[in-house]
Amino acid sequence: MKKVVQKQKIEIRPPKMSDLDSLLAMINSLVEEKAMIIVQDKVTLEQEKNYLKGIIKSKNAIFLFLIIDGKVMGSAGITKYENIKSHIGEMGIIIKKEARGLGLGEKLFKKVMEEGIKKFKLRIVILDVFKGNKIAQNLYKKLGFQKAGLIKGGEKYYNQYVDNVMMAKYLK
Ligand SMILES: CC(C)(COP(=O)(O)OP(=O)(O)OC[C@H]1O[C@@H](n2cnc3c(N)ncnc32)[C@H](O)[C@@H]1OP(=O)(O)O)[C@@H](O)C(=O)NCCC(=O)NCCS
Repeated sequence: MKKVVQKQKIEIRPPKMSDLDSLLAMINSLVEEKAMIIVQDKVTLEQEKNYLKGIIKSKNAIFLFLIIDGKVMGSAGITKYENIKSHIGEMGIIIKKEARGLGLGEKLFKKVMEEGIKKFKLRIVILDVFKGNKIAQNLYKKLGFQKAGLIKGGEKYYNQYVDNVMMAKYLK
């Protein structure tokens, strides 16, 4: 594990509209590195503005940003399902490349998950992940998620159908 560079100001807090520029830079840097995430095309400022507005005012989701020296370096969120699935929340996380391997993703993920479980009274937290994304799967296993299924060709990764793994963490 790398050492955290000293004197950097690290915080985990809810998103603000003033995060827009560094949020856009983060998501587009993940697109550039072809990260195994849902977003695979560059995002415009306008699209990201709408996304940010949406997550700030959402009633059924909690998002927290990892901020290093004032810039968004990570984002994690949990979204509560509705009706017969309102006891389930779905998690997602991204960390900008230069901030990885420092234990910050784990910290951010745990914080969002804990807040979500408490606020939404969840019994199950789920997520899905590209089968090839072993790093993310390691993180999820470490935090108590277990494999709940696999959908062959369930996701597209740059025009190729690839398998995705469903994972669940049971709380009660
Ligand atoms: C997955 C991701 C969020 C992990 O964040 P991170 O801040 O680098 O992870 P951490 O430093 O907190 O490490 C936590 C655990 O993740 C796993 N992990 C992290 N980096 C790893 C690596 N290079 N190789 C193997 N496992 C790794 C380990 O289990 C690690 O625990 P350990 O240090 O006790 O071994 C980050 O790599 C990322 O954003 N990747 C690109 C986007 C993505 O794939 N998002 C998930 C989509 S489902």
